[in-house]
Amino acid sequence: RGKRAFIAGVADDQGFGWAIAKALASAGAEILVGTWVPALNIFESSLRRGKFDESRKLANGSVLEITKVYPLDAVFDTLDDVPEDIKNNKRYAGSSKWTVQEVAESVKNDFGSIDILVHSLANGPEVTKPLIETSRKGYLAALSASSYSYISLLKHFAPIMNPGSSSLSLTYLASEKIIPGYGGGMSSAKAALESDTRVLAFEAGRKYGIRVNAISAGPLGSRAAKAIGFIEKMIEYSAANAPLQKELSADEVGNTAAFLSSPLASAITGSVIYVDNGLNAMGLAV
Ligand code: NAI
Repeated sequence: RGKRAFIAGVADDQGFGWAIAKALASAGAEILVGTWVPALNIFESSLRRGKFDESRKLANGSVLEITKVYPLDAVFDTLDDVPEDIKNNKRYAGSSKWTVQEVAESVKNDFGSIDILVHSLANGPEVTKPLIETSRKGYLAALSASSYSYISLLKHFAPIMNPGSSSLSLTYLASEKIIPGYGGGMSSAKAALESDTRVLAFEAGRKYGIRVNAISAGPLGSRAAKAIGFIEKMIEYSAANAPLQKELSADEVGNTAAFLSSPLASAITGSVIYVDNGLNAMGLAV
């Protein structure tokens, strides 16, 4: 049997989640995705209308098939956590069962189990504000959407992950080095995500035999990154200063995700793997 993957955080064909879906599909995996509820309609209608047909093409000549798209809001663990204003919000009212627990339950009912879990989502409402000007609410929202969301996903999916399964998240260098402009507590959220990668590798490894890793990716002009505002500058900076002076393609992250999700990486867990043309290793830009 081929492997089955659930990728949380795919809402268009521009980000890492989409590229990871393609790389896993190329390697023979069945693809399920979790799409943020407010983005669901546009994503599904774009898929139906063929807007992504060109980027669905895989290197082996076949096309990316997404077996099922699940609405997801990773900020909510169970239905009890959802406040009235969200329940009644018209972008949410059209969908149901989109809390983390309900999505894991639906996947279990639909497919029984998965082998690969990918967390490719982040959100920081105050990302454009310096950390020192970030509100408590904005900071906690960044941690909730970008860090705790991963703990919650792993907690709810681990019981339906087959032994030997792999789990992955996406992180960024701003967790450990100063990247002015990556604000709102997003740097803190990535630091938490990376620390949690180690602790979760221990806990999920011992209890379920699941590997837990993170990919620290270089800059990519995704939808989320464009919202931060300085992504073009970061791409230029990397191309000018990294050991490899080329633009990072999302497929390079996808390929690493496929490797980490495969038995080729069977002894790798608790690791943060850089896929950034080596930029992280520079101490002096020349
Ligand atoms: P993206 O925009 O393709 O992906 C982010 C996704 O998160 C979107 O689909 C959005 O709908 C979803 N999302 C936001 N809040 C959500 C919620 N509460 N529940 C469910 N989904 C939610 O952008 P990108 O850049 O591919 O981001 C994927 C991951 O890669 C993120 O963790 C990001 O921090 C990380 N990353 C991005 C870098 C970049 O330069 N683009 C660099 C390093 C890491």
